[in-house]
Amino acid sequence: MKNETKNKILIVANWKMNPIILKEAEELLRAVQNGIQRAKDAEIVICPPFVYVEALSSKLKAHITLGAQDCFWEQEGAYTGEVSPSMLKSVGCTYVLIGHSERRQYLGETNEIINKKVKAALKAGLKVILCIGEDMRDSFDTRGHWTHELDPKVKDELVSALDGVQKSKVGNLVVAYEPVWAIGTGNAATPDDVLSAKIFIRKIIGDMFDRKTAETVRVLYGGSTDKKNASDFIKEGHADGLLVGGSSLDPEEFVTMVKSVT
Ligand code: PGA
Repeated sequence: MKNETKNKILIVANWKMNPIILKEAEELLRAVQNGIQRAKDAEIVICPPFVYVEALSSKLKAHITLGAQDCFWEQEGAYTGEVSPSMLKSVGCTYVLIGHSERRQYLGETNEIINKKVKAALKAGLKVILCIGEDMRDSFDTRGHWTHELDPKVKDELVSALDGVQKSKVGNLVVAYEPVWAIGTGNAATPDDVLSAKIFIRKIIGDMFDRKTAETVRVLYGGSTDKKNASDFIKEGHADGLLVGGSSLDPEEFVTMVKSVT
């Protein structure tokens, strides 16, 4: 990846399982593209449901990129209902989200599964947005004392997801810090939380690989971001971008968010 791209703020729209018909998905994309005519300082990625990827891909303007919300860990074969990283690449995806907390929660995705998906997606040449985050607002030790530290779950999720990943592939990795308690709750983290998480995540990656490699990994924040708080996470929290759920379904809100950070 060129450094020029890496220096841009990365704004990722996670549409989740919305909208429910293709026509609305096309309209949403059109409204977003009309609102963001150019994005000199930002890289905008839209992650629609799988079934809309190809149709949207043909309508994409140059400054918007497509991503998927998940992928399988094999490239082809007898895996009914699954979609492989190579397939996603062939229909125009550049990015893929892996390990979103909703998949961990509702689909039973384990750290082991996520690790296999990360490796398969990187192997297929996709850029991976790995989602990690703690369940509760604060971390407590076994005696119930507040540790003033990020929950060990964040470290566990990161270390397991990257187990066996080649150093040469880490340049295609983005980490989205998404505390579960902040997702869809209207209760976002603070810019300070985001800065601490970024330092923590980069340190762990540095320990696993090396510092220079860790510095190539962009760290996004996600969880109840909106047009009012978006720029705080970038300016005060030093996030390299945002992973946006609910607010990405309202084109006016999403376009205003993008403009506020660029
Ligand atoms: P939210 O979701 O912005 O609706 O909180 C973020 C996410 O789940 O990626």
